[in-house]
Amino acid sequence: MMEVAKTIASVRGKVKAARGRDRKIGLVPTMGALHIGHIALIERAVKECSFVVVSIFVNPTQFCPGEDLEKYPCPLEADLETCEKAGVDLVFTPTTEQMYGTANLTWVTVEKLTEPLCGRFRPGHFRGVTTICAKLFNIVQPDIAYFGQKDGQQAIVIKKMVADLNMPLEIVVCPTVREPNGLAVSSRNQYLTEQQKKDATLIYKSLQNCKEMVEDGITDTKSIIAQMREILNQAPAIEIEYVSILDAATLQEIDSVDRQVLAAVAVRLGQARLIDNILLDAKK
Ligand code: PAJ
Repeated sequence: MMEVAKTIASVRGKVKAARGRDRKIGLVPTMGALHIGHIALIERAVKECSFVVVSIFVNPTQFCPGEDLEKYPCPLEADLETCEKAGVDLVFTPTTEQMYGTANLTWVTVEKLTEPLCGRFRPGHFRGVTTICAKLFNIVQPDIAYFGQKDGQQAIVIKKMVADLNMPLEIVVCPTVREPNGLAVSSRNQYLTEQQKKDATLIYKSLQNCKEMVEDGITDTKSIIAQMREILNQAPAIEIEYVSILDAATLQEIDSVDRQVLAAVAVRLGQARLIDNILLDAKK
């Protein structure tokens, strides 16, 4: 039977009772509004761990002023059903009060890696993400925590935090789950109209085009980016935030695709801000 815990003390007690020799505790941190992307992470955790915790918490500190915190979907009943069906053992649904008390004064910041891409457009976002993940790791003390490649920079930042702070857990990054038309599945896709959903397929098209260019031996990032932008501009409603090709390890800008790179796109489309990325290896 799946259990639900609303308090830190209750989660700690239940995980402690489940822990034992050779028992792996898995954690899937989420903000709820669960979809097939989240379910893929949960299924992987269920396969690899003997006790799986899913946290559902719309973390206010990772939203910037003017973002969609107030309208972020919270279908808790449906989410609990999804978790139960997927074989989750424990769902943690804390309140903001539980997670931050009255005055949280301690924050976790990862430098450098949080500067480019979304860091530039969402000041403070990654500080909120790393702080909440550090808290969740301390509360649940999982052996493995599962993240999605969909939020590629987030996964890189979390891995660096875990390495730098010697946190005793493994981070597993799962592939991006996509709609049949290529659009990366996201809770924020609900903000899109039918026409905008069609326009949004250009995001993955631009990334696929980048992949093809690299496979064809084109290495000049400037010309690859120019062509990606051209594809995105086919939909006048798309407002590009960034189209970047960066060193996948350092997230620094590079002139030439001569190592593993992260090709990443962020756009605004109607009411939504959409991101997507792919990892690419240089042609040998
Ligand atoms: P959320 O957007 O709910 O995503 C939870 C996890 O699901 C993240 O690791 C994300 O990368 C993954 N995910 C989302 N869509 C996916 C898709 N289409 N394919 C594969 N994985 C996907 O990311 C967050 O929440 C928050 O920042 C969080 C880490 C929970 C901290 O608050």
